[in-house]
Amino acid sequence: MADSLTVTDNRTGETYEVPIADGAIRADEFGKIRVDDDSPGLALYDPGFVNTASCRSAVTFIDGEKGILEYRGYPIEQLAEHSNFLEVAYLLIHGDLPTKEQYERWEHEITFHTFVHENVKGFMEGFRYDAHPMGILMASVGALSTFYPESRNIADGDNRHMQIVRMIAKMPTLGAWAYRNAQGKPYVYPDNDLSYTANFLAMLFKMSERKFEADERLVKALDVLFILHADHEQNCSTNAVRSVGSSQVDPYSAVAAGVAALYGPLHGGANESVLRMLRRIGSKENIPAFIEGVKNGDEKLMGFGHRVYKNYDPRAQIIKKACDDVFEVTGVNPLLEIAQELEKIALEDDYFVSRKLYPNVDFYSGLIYEALQFPPEMFTVLFAIGRTPGWLSQWLELVQDKEQKIARPKQIYTGARGLDYVPTSERWA
Ligand code: SDX
Repeated sequence: MADSLTVTDNRTGETYEVPIADGAIRADEFGKIRVDDDSPGLALYDPGFVNTASCRSAVTFIDGEKGILEYRGYPIEQLAEHSNFLEVAYLLIHGDLPTKEQYERWEHEITFHTFVHENVKGFMEGFRYDAHPMGILMASVGALSTFYPESRNIADGDNRHMQIVRMIAKMPTLGAWAYRNAQGKPYVYPDNDLSYTANFLAMLFKMSERKFEADERLVKALDVLFILHADHEQNCSTNAVRSVGSSQVDPYSAVAAGVAALYGPLHGGANESVLRMLRRIGSKENIPAFIEGVKNGDEKLMGFGHRVYKNYDPRAQIIKKACDDVFEVTGVNPLLEIAQELEKIALEDDYFVSRKLYPNVDFYSGLIYEALQFPPEMFTVLFAIGRTPGWLSQWLELVQDKEQKIARPKQIYTGARGLDYVPTSERWA
């Protein structure tokens, strides 16, 4: 049996052999199918790219049916248990786990690039007191492209490496300063004695104490959350990074587009929406009425459902476990009980089961973030910090992929045609 499709165009009776490779067919093969030489070839119509592969990638593998997630071939469960976020960031960017020397050099590079230009404080203070930190982060990441104009030279490998180090290093500083700005608190500079995640917590929460020492169990839990968010193949924000990056713009501008896409409530903004939803439900007694509202289409059960996972999101299971570790230190988040009851009821309700809707990465993460004293508007900033190495590893693949071109999809035109302009003198008479 040949790996191909035999397609007959019933408009012409013509038959075409379309090769199948890697479980896909090339869309341009259908471009060859046309009624006559003057007509356009067939296009493939796929809103939201539900069934369209945009690239070849070796970064992340997901099996949605089996709930498998691997970064560069390593199962997420093993990385969450045995690795740390900086090592996972190295793995995603370089494709292999680092040797001791490679890790030490990587850690040194990241640690010594955590500072941002002092002018960043200037424009951060330009935001209103109630500016959403994701809006500040989006703007700040884009602004970094103006501090490093050499980043436009994306063909140079050393230059790419430098910008990747800078972005991974500076994202926590930008996120922490956006938080401090909103809280009306002074900025805390990076402390290079601390680990990546401990330093982030210090920049967020340090006040008058000489040295801010976060509880190691909380540092570990947040580090695991960063690992779980580090990459997820061609999700909405990664698609944005690749699409914007395909114009050969600098990586800061491409990642700023990723931050913008992540901001949306259907994507990274879901963790914030879950918390607000749980607060709005308020008690277990209100769950049945809320579920009815979802089934009537009044709203979505935020933190449930996924384009790829159709059984369970492996990350949600790990996060649920991490909840116990955090609550040991902070005390149980009272919303946990509502979340657990909501999950239980939903998983027994045919509306959700028939649509294969299960808790995703965002359903429980917000409970941990709130227990770590983050306000809901900071939750997606935490997601962005975790996702930065993923966005950059995908961007790196894109700019080195000879098959890639500038992203410019087709459309199906539904508008008017061939109208004659009527001058305003007549139109408005
Ligand atoms: C992330 O892509 C990624 O990998 C993303 C991510 C990553 O790591 O990058 O995993 C991170 O974004 C996780 C998802 C966070 N978003 C939410 O939790 C928001 C709530 N969930 C949804 O909006 C939805 O499930 C999506 C956006 C996640 C997936 O949407 P799809 O794949 O386009 O599915 P769909 O909207 O076509 O839904 C299929 C059906 C529909 O019902 P019908 O029209 O067939 O009657 O399921 C329903 C939807 O209405 N549905 C939901 C629902 N999600 C889907 N109904 C109620 N509550 C929900 N949460």
